[in-house]
Amino acid sequence: MADPIRVAVTGAAGQIAYSVIFRLASGAVFGKDRPVYLSFLEIAPAMKVLEAVMMELEDCAFPTLAGMRASDQADQAFDGVNTALLIGSRPRGAGMERADLIKINGPIFVGQGKALNRGAADLRVIVVGNPCNTNCLIAMNHSDVPNDRFSAMMRLDYNRSKGMLAIKAGVPVTAVSHVAVWGNHSNNQYPDFENAKINGQPVPSVIQDETWLRETFVPAIQTRGAAVINARGASSAASAASAALDHLISFREPSPVGDWIPAAVRSNGQYGVDPGLVFGFPLRVNEKGWEVVEGLPLSDWGRAKFDKVLNELRSEREVVKDLL
Ligand SMILES: NC(=O)c1ccc[n+]([C@@H]2O[C@H](COP(=O)([O-])OP(=O)(O)OC[C@H]3O[C@@H](n4cnc5c(N)ncnc54)[C@H](O)[C@@H]3O)[C@@H](O)[C@H]2O)c1
Repeated sequence: MADPIRVAVTGAAGQIAYSVIFRLASGAVFGKDRPVYLSFLEIAPAMKVLEAVMMELEDCAFPTLAGMRASDQADQAFDGVNTALLIGSRPRGAGMERADLIKINGPIFVGQGKALNRGAADLRVIVVGNPCNTNCLIAMNHSDVPNDRFSAMMRLDYNRSKGMLAIKAGVPVTAVSHVAVWGNHSNNQYPDFENAKINGQPVPSVIQDETWLRETFVPAIQTRGAAVINARGASSAASAASAALDHLISFREPSPVGDWIPAAVRSNGQYGVDPGLVFGFPLRVNEKGWEVVEGLPLSDWGRAKFDKVLNELRSEREVVKDLL
């Protein structure tokens, strides 16, 4: 068998991690021939729950699980890892504004950004913990790991968009392609139906209901997280975990021919986004790395949505400017 791939998971006692970890360990992500070594980071009060997760992992007797360790020190958790899934962060409490959450979680990503320097030479970092774009920006700014190895997760928004368009058009989800989710993982994100396709045809020519696309689809995707919380009493976990693993895999293999993958990455000024901001773009991955898909048209309506979410990310950067 090959050498184990070493994966760090932060927030390892949390809900999303509870779905992520067992799939990583089972061979479902890296294949049945690739052993996986798991390295968990949690805060001290959650260690007991994490112990239970580790007991359950032992009880699964996964042939691909080469070993595991747990720590409440980021330096230890990230030592030698090839992939770091940064899921842990403080959840938003009742009455807490987004800016408060950003201020509380920001410092976590300063320390973790520095500790990521302990990772392996090929380390790739995926930020899921919210506000994930700005947390990613902070971690990136405190790390020597190259910027192009950092990304934040827009995949759940993309998967939600594909699912909802497929249901509306009465087609399998595999018929939906070219979905871009611009900007921030927040309720100002712009899930772009104008560039999306169904069976290779522009979505607006298949779903000929502009009012539904603009006034139902876009807000429903933007607020889907809140709808799940209202119905379930807890935030999306299995779907977020599934998206995190889709995201991880999509950076390890070439993108589907002619299509793209969604992720928030450091802007180099594409589409007029300030260089340095961590912004959701469509990307193409190839053997050399990834690139932003450029030149997609945006209508005036779409550009207004795009500019709104761009401004939101600029304000988030302003809130954390002392941490950058
Ligand atoms: N990007 C996305 O699309 C997306 C989707 C869903 C959820 N999320 C976010 O993912 C995060 C995790 O969600 P969850 O449902 O698993 O939450 P959760 O509260 O169940 O788990 C979070 C875990 O993080 C741990 N944690 C807190 N601070 C930590 C630190 N400094 N280091 C390590 N661990 C720490 C907590 O102890 C807890 O166990 C949240 O921020 C949530 O908003 C993002």
